[in-house]
Amino acid sequence: MKISRISMFALAFVVSVATIVAADPPPWAYGFEGPPQAGDTPVPVRPANTDQTPRSIPGATTQYARAQIANRFGPADWFPSEHPQMPDVVAHGKQPNVWACGLCHYPNGKGRAENAGVNGLSVEYFIQTMNDFKNGNRKSADPRKANTNLMIQFAKNMSDDEIKATAEYFGSMKWTPWIKVVEAKMAPKTKPSNGLFLVEGNEMEPLGNRIVETPVNAEATEVLRDPHSGFTAYVPVGAVKKGEALVTKGGGKTIACGGCHGADLKGLGPVPGLAGRSPSYLMRQMFDMQQGFRKGTWAELMKPVVANLTTDDMMNIVAYTASQVP
Ligand code: HEC
Ligand code: HEC
Repeated sequence: MKISRISMFALAFVVSVATIVAADPPPWAYGFEGPPQAGDTPVPVRPANTDQTPRSIPGATTQYARAQIANRFGPADWFPSEHPQMPDVVAHGKQPNVWACGLCHYPNGKGRAENAGVNGLSVEYFIQTMNDFKNGNRKSADPRKANTNLMIQFAKNMSDDEIKATAEYFGSMKWTPWIKVVEAKMAPKTKPSNGLFLVEGNEMEPLGNRIVETPVNAEATEVLRDPHSGFTAYVPVGAVKKGEALVTKGGGKTIACGGCHGADLKGLGPVPGLAGRSPSYLMRQMFDMQQGFRKGTWAELMKPVVANLTTDDMMNIVAYTASQVP
């Protein structure tokens, strides 16, 4: 049977409408306790910290107070010898509307679950995606996620030269292991804090059908922004194997990822790497692309990949990609 272009278009339309009504943003990936409600607006970010008590971290020679660690226009750089010289916008941002990239993504670009790892991305992809933020092609499916809006604000206030300088700086560093994946039935009890799940106390709770990505050391990450202190991702038992089947074979539901992202998932040409990156971040991106919040020329290629995946499929996929050592 010959299918006309028109009916193929109509079919694609039906498929995309069907997926748009399908699901709420998974709260574990967006940093909230439950799904958004109608009329929700961005949750205001915490005011700047003013604590002047000097702090130190293992191996660093300089002390910084919290006011400086969290300074939006000049945050702490604990290990300056471990990265190339930062472009000014990475180290200091640009007053008043662009905060220092190093504040949220760290000077080494490793980033955190509530934002993104930005090092080791191709310069072409980095520039493309900054322009997508700028042009309204990258938004969050969860209206409460204020830091995605900040990212949009920063991109809108940067020149092409500034974007290129940041792309080259972060692209000059390689992505290295930062997140440890643990399959488990129980996970430490966490509470969301500014989009990041933090462990409080020693209580454990059933993991259920979600991923809990949390700092190895809450104080080191949240208070000190130690760029050596990474994350643990608790994933459901069996998730990694289920994800592997989808990633490597497609399983009739999706397209195997290796052809575009590289057989080892470390990125291929301009296409970004997935191996060992934040599962919460990648989950948000797949969900945002499926629901049409992240779009644009490059994201078109991802549409058929995510169209028929359930939230659980995507969770299994990111459990697997996170478990792959970069
Ligand atoms: C307030 C914290 C914050 C600061 C400061 C910040 N970002 Fe981000 N950035 C984010 C968040 C949050 C995301 C992920 C958005 C999402 O998940 O919806 C992100 C994502 C990104 C991505 C996408 C990575 C990918 O794999 O596609 C790039 C690139 C990026 N940021 C670059 C920058 C640059 C360049 C700067 C400095 C000018 C900067 N960011 C400053 C919060 C921040
Ligand atoms: C036909 C090529 C192609 C295939 C197959 C493909 N991708 Fe992608 N993927 C891309 C491109 C191109 C982008 C960049 C999209 C953009 O810039 O908006 C991307 C982006 C992504 C992102 C966002 C990365 C980031 O840093 O923000 C995720 C997550 C992702 N892909 C996951 C997957 C998974 C999982 C599979 C397999 C199940 C897969 N992709 C298969 C081409 C592909």
